[in-house]
Amino acid sequence: MVLKILFLQFFCLVILISSSSSSSLSDFTNTSNGIDLKLQQAEADPVIVKVSKDASSKFKTVQDALNSIQQPNNKRVIVSIATGVYREKIVIPITLPFITFLGDAKGNSKITWNDSYSTIGSDGKPLETYKSASVAVEADYFIAINMIFKNTAYFPTKVEQAVAIRVTGNKAAFYNCLFYGVQDTLYDHKGLHYFKNCYIQGAVDFVFGDGTSLYEAKVVLLPTALQAPVTDAGALVELN
Ligand SMILES: *[C@@H]1O[C@H](CO)[C@@H](O)[C@H](O)[C@H]1NC(C)=O
Ligand SMILES: *[C@@H]1O[C@H](CO)[C@@H](O)[C@H](O)[C@H]1NC(C)=O
Repeated sequence: MVLKILFLQFFCLVILISSSSSSSLSDFTNTSNGIDLKLQQAEADPVIVKVSKDASSKFKTVQDALNSIQQPNNKRVIVSIATGVYREKIVIPITLPFITFLGDAKGNSKITWNDSYSTIGSDGKPLETYKSASVAVEADYFIAINMIFKNTAYFPTKVEQAVAIRVTGNKAAFYNCLFYGVQDTLYDHKGLHYFKNCYIQGAVDFVFGDGTSLYEAKVVLLPTALQAPVTDAGALVELN
């Protein structure tokens, strides 16, 4: 009986810890073996969700895959994204930590949208920089591997703030990712972020924000964004 009560208490404690959607400092500092406790629990039982443009996967859009995940999420969900251009605008809410976007190893899994500073939002006002992001990561512990994030707003006729990705959640990591835009491509908003073997392209303020990040990345300044040849393969050169 005593054992049972103890077990129940332990169980409730785990639920309490793992279901809290907003993070406190102790979530990030309470570590064993240098790895956050919350993260260790999340990584213990990962789930894979597949997305592809064809019928081979359950989901055809990244958004549909994200919608299938119960909130608040407390385990690693690997969204495996097959080669293809996913014309989507995505927000990963704070209630969906531990999401991984795993692109095709050949590097052709692309999420692209084209909102910019002056795009009018649903409230009738300009989106401005913050809300222009093609992908906005509000959640903690986001990982992207082999992904392309892009914003093509007005390209190549006009330069305006147009974010390809905004990273607001803490402890995000990007491996083998390409970021394409012209102005404000990568909004490293806040938190601890790591960029390994990545490529970031733009012409104006294209890596910015208050993040505390480590970049092991190639950062390419477009020499003359709009004087360059008026083709997608001109100024906004893609590597793939
Ligand atoms: C750290 O985690 C352990 C195990 O879940 C918990 O008992 C302890 O209260 C936590 N400490 C802080 C400062 O949150
Ligand atoms: C975004 O793309 C749509 C569809 O191609 C196009 O109609 C619109 O003009 C574009 N907006 C910007 C700001 O590039």
